Amino acid sequence: MPPTATMPRSPGVGAVGASRGQAARTGSPFFRLALIFGALLVYLGYRATVPSSHKVLESAVSFTPSSATISRRVVAVADLHGDLQHAHNVLRMAGIIDASANWIGGDAVLASTGDIVDRGDDTIELYKMFDRLRQQALEHGGEVRNCLGNHEMMNALHDWRYVTPGDVKSFGGPQARRNVMSSSGWIGKAWMSNYTISQTVPLLSPHKVPPGVPSHYAVPHASFVHGGIHPEWAAKGLDHINEVGRSLLFRALDWKSPRGHLPPDTSREEMSLYDEMGPLWYRGYAYETEEEVCHLAHAAKESLGVRHLVMGHTPHFDGFVVRCDAAVLLIDTGISRAYGGEQSALIFDTELLPLAKGAWEERSTLTALYRGRRPKIIKEIRRVV
Ligand SMILES: *[C@@H]1O[C@H](CO)[C@@H](O)[C@H](O)[C@H]1NC(C)=O
Repeated sequence: MPPTATMPRSPGVGAVGASRGQAARTGSPFFRLALIFGALLVYLGYRATVPSSHKVLESAVSFTPSSATISRRVVAVADLHGDLQHAHNVLRMAGIIDASANWIGGDAVLASTGDIVDRGDDTIELYKMFDRLRQQALEHGGEVRNCLGNHEMMNALHDWRYVTPGDVKSFGGPQARRNVMSSSGWIGKAWMSNYTISQTVPLLSPHKVPPGVPSHYAVPHASFVHGGIHPEWAAKGLDHINEVGRSLLFRALDWKSPRGHLPPDTSREEMSLYDEMGPLWYRGYAYETEEEVCHLAHAAKESLGVRHLVMGHTPHFDGFVVRCDAAVLLIDTGISRAYGGEQSALIFDTELLPLAKGAWEERSTLTALYRGRRPKIIKEIRRVV
């Protein structure tokens, strides 16, 4: 991962390495000192611009400089619910955007578990922000992955129980809002092409795995969804889930006066996708006993081929709920001012580095960022592969 403004991997090493190469060519001890001093000044200035949470986060993960080492950062945010300011706060804290809300995440991946809309007024600005970041991320080798929440689907179905008057006003009235959230409106189109029920994200780029790594090695993955993927849905596979979600979304957007009811031609499977056991609404991973949750999680992880199941939807205002040895991560902390919970982001830092004698080690660190608090390491995994 090339260093970026807020995610310097090992800037010290880079700076010293550069001055050493220069000094060898020039030879003069005075020139050499001046160069080192200059490099130090540049480095200190650079460090001063890094928000404090990143310094702690950075030191929590030890990076071994090696050309063969690969790494990736995946940042996850849950329910933003119409609050642009708090969305900015968490994405800045996570090193994904700058003060002008432009992408500075380099080749990181930003995953959102949905429910961007409702309870607050900033629907337009939030979806615009995600559209912009998705494009900017691509230009930097990064990626933005958006899941649909139950509130996206509710709005597609014209179920407006949680829409604020200020939000309707920002669109210029109910009809204009409805148009924008139809299959010919820009939000409806964005949902159709760039939002899915669930996203599975590789925690390391599979294309970057160095040739020396044993062929049995598979990069770890995490699954993102709004509510939760019950094993029965997981068994149908990610593509099938997203296909059913897409057809329901399309039906909802194109039905003229649904008012929250499912269109008459909704298939049985689409109905079950949208019921309380379906991936948009399911709360079993939050409410079942530990034993039951771990049992469910094990089955779902196997079917989906992932190490972690990340979900929003069921808020816990004072922090993430981590269950079954971090197989289950419930990350809705009520970020929006409508709730006033912790402003949070979940960070996966993963790297694969060469050890001696052709062995490789995978290091994975899961960190919880809460605005105004010290980063909290949730789990570290060290695995020789
Ligand atoms: C989906 O995202 C891509 C990448 O940023 C963008 O080019 C495209 O216009 C988006 N589609 C819609 C309908 O917003």
